[in-house]
Amino acid sequence: MRREQALQLLEEWTAGESLRKHCLSVSICCEAYARLEAARLQLPQHAADELADTYACAGLLHDFDYEKHPTPDQHPFVGVAYLREHGWPDEILHAILAHADYSGVEPATHLDRTLFACDELAGFLTAAALVKPTKAIAEVEVKGVIKKMKEKGFARAVKREDIARGAELLGVPLDQHVGVCLTAMQERAGELRL
Ligand SMILES: [Fe+2]
Repeated sequence: MRREQALQLLEEWTAGESLRKHCLSVSICCEAYARLEAARLQLPQHAADELADTYACAGLLHDFDYEKHPTPDQHPFVGVAYLREHGWPDEILHAILAHADYSGVEPATHLDRTLFACDELAGFLTAAALVKPTKAIAEVEVKGVIKKMKEKGFARAVKREDIARGAELLGVPLDQHVGVCLTAMQERAGELRL
């Protein structure tokens, strides 16, 4: 599985716990969409596993260069150049470029759209968990998330319009998109320590 390599790379380049966690949560959400897409396409098990692996890698690696190269002239271009040199597949590189709306690369493939759609939402769901008394993602509900999205003061840094645009890109209603990502993160709350 390539995701082991992706995780290793993420940990080599990123010391910060919260950025590592962010990448893992985005990866978990992307993987959930890969499973849905595999089911829709009726892929055989090995192909479904491969798709899930690709999506998981895109999530793990989309911000792996951010800590070292946070400026928009460098992120995600430095990381993508490194990945290209090391033989990572084009579809992953394309998705990483497309998640940065200033890169000039538009989200085109299902993977591109998935990564774009999961990036801001995963952050928002984490923020929604951290304000619970238990800080547990298990306590978060879709309804509450939709409500919090309308509260301007809550998790200010998360761009609501990107979450809405992501759902649109995927062609799913917003509450369904929140549900897919929330369930995925709840199922893997142990890994996320959330
Ligand atoms: Fe991100």
